[in-house]
Amino acid sequence: MAVFHFKGKRLKGELRVPSDKSVSHRSIMLSSINRGEVVVRNFLPSEDCLNTLKAFVELGAPIEKREKEIVIKGRGKRSLKEPFDVLNLGNSGTSIRLISGILSGQPFYSVLTGDKYLRRRPMDRIAIPLRMMGAEIYGREEGKYPPLTVIGKDELKGIKYKSPKASAQVKSAILLAGLYTSEEVKITEPAKSRDHTERMLRAFGVEVIEEGLTVKLGKKRELNADLEISVPADISSAAFFMVGALITPGSEVLLKEVILNPTRTGILRVMERMGAEFEVLNRRESSGEEVGDILVRYTPELRATVIEGEEIPTLIDEIPVIALLATQAEGETVIKDAAELRVKESDRIKSTVENLKNIGAQAEELPDGMVIRGKTPLKGGKVSSFGDHRIAMTFTVASLITENPVEIDDTACISTSYPGFFDDIKELLK
Ligand code: S3P
Repeated sequence: MAVFHFKGKRLKGELRVPSDKSVSHRSIMLSSINRGEVVVRNFLPSEDCLNTLKAFVELGAPIEKREKEIVIKGRGKRSLKEPFDVLNLGNSGTSIRLISGILSGQPFYSVLTGDKYLRRRPMDRIAIPLRMMGAEIYGREEGKYPPLTVIGKDELKGIKYKSPKASAQVKSAILLAGLYTSEEVKITEPAKSRDHTERMLRAFGVEVIEEGLTVKLGKKRELNADLEISVPADISSAAFFMVGALITPGSEVLLKEVILNPTRTGILRVMERMGAEFEVLNRRESSGEEVGDILVRYTPELRATVIEGEEIPTLIDEIPVIALLATQAEGETVIKDAAELRVKESDRIKSTVENLKNIGAQAEELPDGMVIRGKTPLKGGKVSSFGDHRIAMTFTVASLITENPVEIDDTACISTSYPGFFDDIKELLK
C-alpha cells in the first residue's frame, strides 16, 4: 500500500522520461533475427522489456549487455534455438504476442507464459492467424489463454488477413511470421495501429508496403543490417506528466525527446481540442521515428471532448490518464469504441471509472468506453491499481490535486514500464 498527497505543490522543470516500450521490445526482437551487428542505445530497462531480452537470450540470441548499450551480433532469422525451459514474459502482452509470431517460423517447440494477469489475456487474436499460416499453437481453452505452446515450421504459408481489431500486436505477429514464407502476406486493419514494427523492419532491409489500412510484405524478407538504434522517450510515460502539469496550478514541464510517431500522438490532438496550453518544440528524426520536446503548462480552463473511432488506437494506453484530465474539463467527455480497454493489463474501463468515482469524480462506464463529467474537485480516497502500471501512475498523478491523500493498494506494477516513476515525480515537485 502507498499513500500520496502532493496537493499544494506544482510540477516544474525538465524531464526525459524513460524510453519507449514498444520500440525497446522490437529493437531486441528484430536484432535477434537479423544478420549483422546492432547497437541499441537508451533501451528501456523495465520489467516488460527485460522479459523480452531474457526470452531471446534463452532462444540463443547473442545479446551482450554493456553499461550504456546493448550489442546484438545476430546470425540471421534461422539462428534461434529451442529454449531449454518455459519462456516467462511476466506482464507483457507485446512480448508474448510478437514472440509467438517469430516462433511460428522456428521448427521447434516453445512454451510461453506470464504472470496471473497475462494468463487472463486473450491470445486467440494471434493464434487464429498464425495457425492459418501453418504454425501449431495450443493454449488453455483451445488456444485462448497462456501458457501457449508454439510448434513452428521452417516454412509458413502466406496469409491475407482482415484483422477484426486495430492491434499492432496482431499486425506485428503476422508480419514477423511472414518473414518465414515467400508467399503473399497482407494484413488489413479497421484503423491504423502503431507502426513501429513496419518502420523498424524497413530499417533492417525488409520490404514493407503500406496501402491505406493494408500492410504487405514485399519480396525482400531478410534482416541484414548493421545498425545503431537510439530509442526515444515514451509518450505513454510522458502522458502522466503532461496531464499532471495541465491540472496542477503553477505547473510548467518540458518533456524531452518524446516519440511523436503520428500513430502514437492522439493524446496531443485531444489536448488541443480540450484547449490545453502546450507546444511541441524541436521536432526531429531519430532512428526512423519522429521525436520532439513537449512543453506543457497548467491550463485552468479545459473543455470536454469526444474521443472515438480511428483516434482510439493512437491513444489507447493513455486513456486512463486522459480520463483523469477530463475530470478537470468543463462538460461531458465521452470515450467510445474502446472495448479493447477491457482486455489490457486490467479491465481499464472498470479500473479507471471505479477509481475515479472513489476519489470523488463523476464517471460512468459504457460497454466500450466511459463518460466523465467535469469539472469536479477531487476528494481523494482509496483506490486499487488492479495490478496495472498505468492505473497506479494515473492515480498517483491524481493526488496532485486531491483534497485528501490517495491510497493505492499496490504500486509495484509500475516497474513493468516506468521503474523510476516516483523519483521523477519527486524531482519535478516544487
Ligand atoms: C503495443 C500495442 C498496443 C498497446 C500496447 C503496446 C505494441 O496493444 O496497447 O501497450 O507495442 O505493439 P494492441 O496491439 O493490442 O492494440
